[in-house]
Amino acid sequence: MTTLRASRAADRGIASVSTDAGDVVIRTTGLTRVYATGRTEVRALDGVDVSVREGEFVAVMGASGSGKSTLMNILGCLDKPTAGSYELDGIRVEELDKNALAEIRNQRIGFVFQSFNLLARTAAIDNVELPLLYDRSGRKIDSRKAAAEALERVGLADRMDHEPSEMSGGEQQRVAIARALVGQPSLILADEPTGNLDSRTSVDVMTLFQDLNDQGITVIIVTHEPEIARYCKRIIRMRDGRVIVDEPVRDRRCARDDLERLAYLDEQNVAEVAV
Ligand SMILES: Nc1ncnc2c1ncn2[C@@H]1O[C@H](COP(=O)(O)OP(=O)(O)O)[C@@H](O)[C@H]1O
Ligand SMILES: [Mg+2]
Repeated sequence: MTTLRASRAADRGIASVSTDAGDVVIRTTGLTRVYATGRTEVRALDGVDVSVREGEFVAVMGASGSGKSTLMNILGCLDKPTAGSYELDGIRVEELDKNALAEIRNQRIGFVFQSFNLLARTAAIDNVELPLLYDRSGRKIDSRKAAAEALERVGLADRMDHEPSEMSGGEQQRVAIARALVGQPSLILADEPTGNLDSRTSVDVMTLFQDLNDQGITVIIVTHEPEIARYCKRIIRMRDGRVIVDEPVRDRRCARDDLERLAYLDEQNVAEVAV
């Protein structure tokens, strides 16, 4: 694990697709989810076969209603399939009871949502510490210290006492990412994490996901935007509950380079206006 992390860190900034030969983290077979609402049934997932290896960075794309969130909820152990199987680190998730699901979720998975889902009128550090207060794994963790470290990791060491209303959207999403990281997950699932952010802030948030991925964390995000998907390593495209495309990202982009380019262009513009 240590060597993996070290070697991934050495890859930093490389914008090409590397073949990831890590262990299989996620394997779904014939994954199906049918929602029964009243008299109608919605087949939100219709036989999804996907494998994701350690260290991958996947973008799940597809039209609204194609089943992306349903897939993420099952991958995140928030929901169970109606049929088919889901193995997470070799564990058959559909066979677990509620408590075991909660435990696996707490210890292995970090979630990030489009609307941040932070507690209002609650300082960043308290928001980030929260998952650890529900941690029943018996791990000995100084939750306060871990929360502070997670906030440092996302570049918010100077915002620990700020409440969500006192932060920008990008900062709030960073807090949410720190909260996802605080339990030291090996997998981060983010459902449209840049959906509420302007394009520059989106790139900024993607620098963070790329950094975390470089550090060995497996990342799966849902996004509508092709520009955002280009920061990932692999694209899975869904339609009507099925995977219709599964391919590596060619011409992968480095978010940090793009951010620097944007800053440079801004400077040029300012200079031009001044002249
Ligand atoms: N809780 C639910 N109850 C009933 N139908 C649902 C529920 N959640 C999602 N659906 C339906 O399942 C399909 C897939 O939804 P979803 O996974 O949210 O798609 P996406 O995230 O790609 O927009 C849609 O037709 C949606 O209306
Ligand atoms: Mg969705």
